[in-house]
Amino acid sequence: MKRIAALAVASLMATGAAAQTVKIGVVNTFTGPQAMFGDMTDRAFKLYQKLHDKELPSGVKLEFVTRDDGGPNPDKARQLAQELVVRDRVQILAGVAFTPNAMAMAPLATEAKIPLILTNAGTSVVTTRSPYIVRFSFTLWQSCVPLGEWAAKKFKRAYTLVADYAPGQDAEVAFAQGFKAGGGELVGSVRVPLQNPDFAPYMQRVKDAKPDALMVFVPAGKTSTSVMKTFADLGLAAAGIKLIGPGDITTDEELANMGDVALGVTTVFHYSAAAERPANRRFVEAWKKEYGANATPNFAAVAAWDAMAAIFHVVKEQNGKIDSERTMELLKGYRNADSPRGPIAIDPETRDIVQNEYLREVRRVNGQLANVELETVATAVKDPWKEMQKKK
Ligand code: DHB
Repeated sequence: MKRIAALAVASLMATGAAAQTVKIGVVNTFTGPQAMFGDMTDRAFKLYQKLHDKELPSGVKLEFVTRDDGGPNPDKARQLAQELVVRDRVQILAGVAFTPNAMAMAPLATEAKIPLILTNAGTSVVTTRSPYIVRFSFTLWQSCVPLGEWAAKKFKRAYTLVADYAPGQDAEVAFAQGFKAGGGELVGSVRVPLQNPDFAPYMQRVKDAKPDALMVFVPAGKTSTSVMKTFADLGLAAAGIKLIGPGDITTDEELANMGDVALGVTTVFHYSAAAERPANRRFVEAWKKEYGANATPNFAAVAAWDAMAAIFHVVKEQNGKIDSERTMELLKGYRNADSPRGPIAIDPETRDIVQNEYLREVRRVNGQLANVELETVATAVKDPWKEMQKKK
């Protein structure tokens, strides 16, 4: 054994490579109704590493220290991030499903000068809270403005129902802007509690207002299925009200649990597991091979996949010796013409993702429900909220 270890060291020295471990701290949601986020992110990180490990410079290893924040829980997220930085000495932070958690971690990233690579947390303002934040997910503004514009061509009267916290407010305001600009009339808007909401009384109110369409944002996961079921159970679908929203409400991995009530629901989003792009076909195939034929990656998985590709890029460029400023420089110029979601880039000015938005409809494909992409409604979309702030 000793001899083998000595040989390994000798061969490392011979090639001039020093053993180098890059430590990455992950904070994400692994328990509760949105546990999907932790699971998807973890699987995507692991799959990317498994398939690309050989590309790392010789002697360079990635080590992950992963922590569960349990859901929207800013104090817990801040504490976990602090421990990861101070005790575990991580060089990069990644993950974060919920906006309030990302907001709580932002000052720490700034103080410690540690890059924070977001794989979810979709409220526009988040990236402005630290120069060390880079977002690989999306903003609600990116999907909800084009959704509103599209909806105005189809419907006269719309109602909005959103989870009562920052991304919900973004979704509501962005949709209203697009819908009104297109000549639509908003007949009502309601905000529902983030934790354990009972949608029935709110849905009843919507039904009584008789809108043509209802736009919903809730955090994706089991809550999306509960929205879908209440919408059907209270007879909104039967009353001819059309359910629309950002892709959170028809999150790919829940479609099978939603059943036929989801058929025809139309959304605008940046990722669908059903997309026909070759890069996506390869991604979904690799996912199913690794995790089983019934496993489906979703938008959280693709965000983590792309984030890991970017982490590999910065690690390779620096030969495993991570410098925060250089890492930020590399991330600001990062682009990938062939992500499973289409071309992506990081806007160097805002450190936010630039990507396409697709109009999708839930249809049955080969016996299974899928978010079928109908058209690209907007290309290379920069966060519209930040574009607006610039003009102010
Ligand atoms: C958040 C945003 C989402 O789109 C989602 O599905 C869950 C959480 C957030 O920013 O908190």
